[in-house]
Amino acid sequence: MFQLHGPTLTLRAPTPDDAPALFALANDDEVTRWFSWGPYTTIEEPQAYIARAAERSAAGEQLDLLIVHRERGPAGITGLSEFSERDGRCMIGTWLGRDFWGSGVNRESKAIMMRLAFELLGQHRLGSYSNPANERSTRALLGVDFRHEGVLRDWHRHPAGWLDVNVFGLLREEWEASELAGIEVRAEGELPAAFRSAAA
Ligand SMILES: CC(C)(COP(=O)(O)OP(=O)(O)OC[C@H]1O[C@@H](n2cnc3c(N)ncnc32)[C@H](O)[C@@H]1OP(=O)(O)O)[C@@H](O)C(=O)NCCC(=O)NCCS
Repeated sequence: MFQLHGPTLTLRAPTPDDAPALFALANDDEVTRWFSWGPYTTIEEPQAYIARAAERSAAGEQLDLLIVHRERGPAGITGLSEFSERDGRCMIGTWLGRDFWGSGVNRESKAIMMRLAFELLGQHRLGSYSNPANERSTRALLGVDFRHEGVLRDWHRHPAGWLDVNVFGLLREEWEASELAGIEVRAEGELPAAFRSAAA
């Protein structure tokens, strides 16, 4: 299986065996507050998510990886989506169980995903979104060198109604100059087949 190893974290595709861990992490309305899904209330929900994530990865649509802290176990999910092959860009999104907030896991996982996006997948630009009211997520993105580029109005359909989002971007040369590019990352195994052409 394709895996990315950082100093304390390993990122890999979630498998059906990870459903109980994902349930425990996202059975928490603070974690999923800004999302169109959750909190998980039944084990079938993370099971369905894991199956769907495998389909999206096989189709080259989205590459979601489980963040595993090598001492503490699964911590959350981070993924790349909205790929534009023509323009060499995609978006990153992350959620972590509450016990992992403020732990440095977000920073290391972003460093690993930046290496994946820019080096292994040859992207030129990595973007991200946050809800303007989600100050923690906004500060966390600024803290890992994303630049705030503007507000997209009514971008996200949420159960509570239409939500604006902040949009952030990080360009390849900005990543290369950032401290995060200095964090050691080792890739093991082959990229999922649908993403290998992006890397070529
Ligand atoms: C978003 C998320 C991945 C960030 O990870 P994290 O470990 O919490 O982030 P960090 O601790 O590295 O950074 C958070 C920053 O916000 C600051 N912060 C924390 N609470 C805050 C608040 N209520 N208001 C403003 N800033 C806040 C922290 O001080 C830190 O800033 P600093 O680096 O300048 O000190 C994590 O909080 C999470 O999973 N949240 C739930 C899911 C989610 O909202 N995902 C993002 C969707 S866009």
